[in-house]
Amino acid sequence: MSKHFLLDTDLDAATYRSLLERARELKALQRAGTPHRTLDGKVLAMIFEKSSTRTRVSFETGIYQLGGMGLYLSTRDSQLGRGEPIADTARALSEMVDAIMIRTFAQDTVEQLAEHGRVPVINGLTDSYHPCQLLADMQTWFDRRGDIRGARVAWIGDANNVCNSWMLVAKHLGFELHIGCPPGFAPDPDLLKLCGSSVTVHQDPRAAIEQADLVTTDVFSSMGQEEEAAQRLSAFRGYQVDDTLMQGASKDALFMHCLPAHRGEEVSAEVIDGPQSVVWEQAGNRLHAQKALMEHLMA
Ligand code: CP
Ligand code: NVA
Repeated sequence: MSKHFLLDTDLDAATYRSLLERARELKALQRAGTPHRTLDGKVLAMIFEKSSTRTRVSFETGIYQLGGMGLYLSTRDSQLGRGEPIADTARALSEMVDAIMIRTFAQDTVEQLAEHGRVPVINGLTDSYHPCQLLADMQTWFDRRGDIRGARVAWIGDANNVCNSWMLVAKHLGFELHIGCPPGFAPDPDLLKLCGSSVTVHQDPRAAIEQADLVTTDVFSSMGQEEEAAQRLSAFRGYQVDDTLMQGASKDALFMHCLPAHRGEEVSAEVIDGPQSVVWEQAGNRLHAQKALMEHLMA
């Protein structure tokens, strides 16, 4: 049976930590210009049903640096856009490629791909989770501060796909996640229950950010929610991570954002472009963390 990465907890906690170590090694190899073709000749199909900059570039560059190649498939110019079932796509691609990465809407689509295919499937973002993002976020924290166990993290804003992954990883790796969100935009109660005491929800963003070692946020309207943008912008008034809010966090708190960001909405320019922000390093770590993931699933 193939191993998959459909959501964060598909890697047990020990494996998760060992991948972060490997990601750090791979980063050093890449920086030194040392070849590391551990997936020589392997092919990764990359299905995109939503836009992407970082996810596409990190997977395509990553598989190339490991000695393989990435194939970009968009809904617009593949048969998926003309209604070919995902199960048939899974069966056909499994005859030809070594793994499939998919960015799509429903988590169920990713699960069907894994169920009907014979190769590893990687979730490159769904409406529910963004597990590859969290691998890079964790690498960024581990590289700078060591293990995240026991740390206090604040998520300010919409309890979206990225937040759901933060919730799972909080429980998995043993840190506290404090979510500051307006009423009506809180996490799914079942997921909250699953995460137990690792996750606390606050309506007041100042309560969520208090003494945080790491502060993170994301757009107020995710891909697929464009029509709700105006309504969301007004619902999230007061939830911008700006200098005033950041003052409640611990002095050396890091600021992360999965990007793309909307300066002046979920985050001020002062914060995202300021000294506590590690967003570019975080974006770059998508490459290294996913190379470690591909080695784990495809070698
Ligand atoms: N953070 C992230 O997944 O970025 P892209 O949408 O550009 O891939
Ligand atoms: N929550 C955002 C993340 C983009 C990387 C979205 O789903 O659009």
